[in-house]
Amino acid sequence: MKDTSGKISGFSKLSAAEKRRTIAEHCLGNAEDSYKFEAFHFADEALQQKFEQFSENTLTNHALPFGVIPNVLVDDKLYHVPAVVEESSVVAAASKAASFWYDRGGFKTVAQESIKNGQVYFEWYDDVEWLRNNELVFFDQLAASTAELTNNMEKRGGGIRSFLLEQMPGISKNTLKLTVEVNTADSMGANFINSLLETIATEIPVFAQKNNRKAPEVLMAILSNYTPKNFVTMKVAAPVEQMTWSKKYPPEVFAKRFVQAVQIANGDVSRAVTHNKGIMNGSDAVILATGNDFRAAEAAAHAYAARNGRYASLSEAGIDKDRFWMKLTLPVALGTVGGLTKLHPTAALALQMLGNPGADELMKIVAAAGLANNFAAVASLVTTGIQRGHMKLHLDNILSAEQASPKQIKAAKEWFANKTVSVSAVRDFLANSR
Ligand code: MEV
Repeated sequence: MKDTSGKISGFSKLSAAEKRRTIAEHCLGNAEDSYKFEAFHFADEALQQKFEQFSENTLTNHALPFGVIPNVLVDDKLYHVPAVVEESSVVAAASKAASFWYDRGGFKTVAQESIKNGQVYFEWYDDVEWLRNNELVFFDQLAASTAELTNNMEKRGGGIRSFLLEQMPGISKNTLKLTVEVNTADSMGANFINSLLETIATEIPVFAQKNNRKAPEVLMAILSNYTPKNFVTMKVAAPVEQMTWSKKYPPEVFAKRFVQAVQIANGDVSRAVTHNKGIMNGSDAVILATGNDFRAAEAAAHAYAARNGRYASLSEAGIDKDRFWMKLTLPVALGTVGGLTKLHPTAALALQMLGNPGADELMKIVAAAGLANNFAAVASLVTTGIQRGHMKLHLDNILSAEQASPKQIKAAKEWFANKTVSVSAVRDFLANSR
């Protein structure tokens, strides 16, 4: 019987071309419209095939602007930082802040650590005290079982760093949480950590049997995207008198207003979320450009922002002895080998632009981009407001969407120089100028 509900069966078994036709038929009303997906394919068929293998059910490619934040000085090394982001003003804001701080010594790393972690959750039906008393033997056996996996990672400077066994009284008296801390060298390491944990998970019952203990039951083994020990702290600082960002306020007033805005973000969740979003505008753009996992970065950042039981700002700012400073701590797990980093041609290009950094170096660049965007956003908010800069770019986008002629674009820019931009106002303007 034909299914008339619209549910598509056996979709995963179709070829890529059949999938496009099926979706065109179901969603666009005509299978022949599958060319609309194909229109965005790469001319190079091999490259297109490579892309289609990244994920499942790929219909087409979805383009985003790949831009650059020039002049990001990090620990005295100059980078022109690739940034992939669809939101207008993000790259412009970061570029302005990067250039401002370039002239004041740039971004400096004040702390960094690179330890990721994952957990095996299991039920230990035997005496928990016995396991606790024998945990060093337990850990040794678990580590030994992973030798095949860890050998290569150890050669690259990574490997298991520690084990920690904890009870979870909130769940049940038998439920145990085994945390494994790992260094994954220059790889993001998600596959490595998950394989490691799954190997450890199979060894737990082996250990119990060897020691004549009741059979335990493993529930799950998975890396944690909460990486508070995989972080970088990035700082900018300058004498207050050099905080000449704004024409509206003298440096000391600007610095004072700025610090107060960051204090508000620290104390008020309404502001903190938007403040942190401004940080992630810059960080995610670099994470995305370099083929890294921005969802992991987002999850880690926001959990870290709430680490003290209250969601707060990820950055801080202050004035000490007439010196303005601002600092950002970002927990972020990145890779510069493995994953998409080499397979994705523009991710590989982005890494090449940065001089093919290791993961620790990329973490610093990502944090610097986050801090640059955060600085620019707060600086705009406490001076002109953000809409002025935003709307200039917004106007370009609206004019382009409305297919304005070069003459209309020029006239619209002059007209809106001191007026509020909105889609309807631009449409009215264009209608009158046609
Ligand atoms: C917009 O994408 C980001 C800002 O809202 C960040 C902020 O308010 O700090 C400008």
